[in-house]
Amino acid sequence: MTSIDRIHRLAVIRGDGIGPEVIDAALAVLAAAESAFGFRTEITEIAAGAQHYLATGELWTPALQEQLRSHDAILFGAMGDPAVAPGILERGFILEMRRSFQQAVNLRPVKLYPGVVTPIAGLTPERCDLVIVRENTEGAYVGRGSTVHAGTPNAVAVQESVNTRMGVERVVEFAFRLAERRGGTLTLCHKKNILVEAGTLWQSTVDEVSARFPTVPVDYVHVDALCFYLPTTPERFNVVVTDNLFGDIITDLGAAIQGGLGVAASANVNLDGSGPSMFEAIHGSAPDIAGRGWANPVGAILSTAMCLAHLGEGDAARAIEAAAVHVLAQLPATAGPAMGFSTAQLGQKIAELVRSGASVAAIPGYSVMDDLAALR
Ligand code: NAI
Ligand code: MG
Repeated sequence: MTSIDRIHRLAVIRGDGIGPEVIDAALAVLAAAESAFGFRTEITEIAAGAQHYLATGELWTPALQEQLRSHDAILFGAMGDPAVAPGILERGFILEMRRSFQQAVNLRPVKLYPGVVTPIAGLTPERCDLVIVRENTEGAYVGRGSTVHAGTPNAVAVQESVNTRMGVERVVEFAFRLAERRGGTLTLCHKKNILVEAGTLWQSTVDEVSARFPTVPVDYVHVDALCFYLPTTPERFNVVVTDNLFGDIITDLGAAIQGGLGVAASANVNLDGSGPSMFEAIHGSAPDIAGRGWANPVGAILSTAMCLAHLGEGDAARAIEAAAVHVLAQLPATAGPAMGFSTAQLGQKIAELVRSGASVAAIPGYSVMDDLAALR
């Protein structure tokens, strides 16, 4: 492609707390990547989040949906404030965005980069290099259910999990394509011995799709067992596919193992081109440290790299990842004041490496940047 084709329209939602701080750092790195790799971005800043909601009463609106739809991708900081009751932004904005744009896959790399401090004693990067593929629009998160006799001793709350064959199949197929590319095993994580209805649908879908991917070995692990294996023998996994609720839980476990909230990145991928995909660090707005310049921006920076890979800028994505990993390895801690550098300084260091084209050591193991560039 000529550089004239390589203009990417990005919507940026900074949000609240440390969201704007880590996005600032990520945009500095993005600007460096543009000048080093010859593409351009056109950025639309979108006001949304707790502060915006408190000021305007607005959450997800049809007008915002239409505005965002005209973009190639969305970069998302974080939303949340103690002044807004839990659930309002999650259900009223984040889940609406994922559903409206059919961001069917939540992709979460669990890769321990060299030099990063992990709480698992003795764990090495070669042993921890997997991707979790979480179903992102269905399951227990559809918000279906009801309560009768609320507030009385006879209260009964029913919370439903909705699993459609179509919704499961598209995610499972993506996971198989990923496992095929990586030459690894696909592991289904569920609780099919107890959640029989949903579990049968997931397992039979995996069995059927498996026939189209004869070279991919298939495994199954109950979610509780996975919580034991993931910290103790992560090398057992390469691609894990799971439902929305289990995925929410095990990806946080994965983030802890790979060095914490400061470094973990994610993609919310639309698979059919009907809407933009969204990229975000997995941490929240961290009101306890907002405004201090202590937030680690690497999660947001790696999410930006994933965004670029998805947009076809694989070289820039890999360069950003390499620069971030190089800088990360020099930090005494991956979050907080003990990092020794401010959020902005870390962004600048990574941006400088990207801009200078300095060759930093290659990252060992699988590259989710290559995966995203290939599977888009
Ligand atoms: P959190 O992820 O914001 O913070 C948890 C802890 O990790 C805090 O002590 C925080 O200081 C620390 N931390 C998080 N990210 C960090 C970073 N990049 N560098 C250094 N330290 C970091 O989760 P919490 O406290 O449960 O939620 C705070 C708010 O964020 C709530 O309103 C919550 O609803 C919202 N939230 C929003 C998310 C999103 O926008 N996708 C995801 C998770 C929470
Ligand atoms: Mg979560």
